[in-house]
Amino acid sequence: MDVLIHVFVALHIIGIASLLGGFLTQLRAMGDGTARFTPAMLHGALTMLVTGAVLVGLNQADDQTVNNIKIGVKLALLVVILGLVYVKRDDEKVEKGLFALVGGLTTVNIFIAVLWT
Ligand code: HEM
Repeated sequence: MDVLIHVFVALHIIGIASLLGGFLTQLRAMGDGTARFTPAMLHGALTMLVTGAVLVGLNQADDQTVNNIKIGVKLALLVVILGLVYVKRDDEKVEKGLFALVGGLTTVNIFIAVLWT
């Protein structure tokens, strides 16, 4: 079971790489107000949702305690991220503030994941 959990943590991290990496490649464009939500960001956000839900299930099946408040906060932030990226996925340009919000919330979720023990 431990190996399976670690495999899903690795997939979860690949999801972060895709979401945050997609954001970072658009930083210069964000400054010019011409950034767009790339497919990598949408697929990364979806990967986070699926692997996160699987991780909750695997940890519970393994009788490990899951911090429901922490997971709830992470889920709530991801729902906002995913909603924005999904709704605006075909927009050629996304406003600076909205684009920055997605990168900011992703970063906040990373700190919540590692600092909230
Ligand atoms: C942008 C959104 C998210 C980010 C950046 C993120 C980040 C992370 C990171 C860095 C870890 C590894 C932390 C560690 O093992 O110490 C982790 C673990 C985990 N994540 Fe996420 N996560 C996100 C969304 C979610 C969602 C939506 C769920 C659940 C529905 C979730 C559930 C979990 C679980 C269960 C673990 C393993 C146990 C734990 O360390 O809390 N994550 N996440």
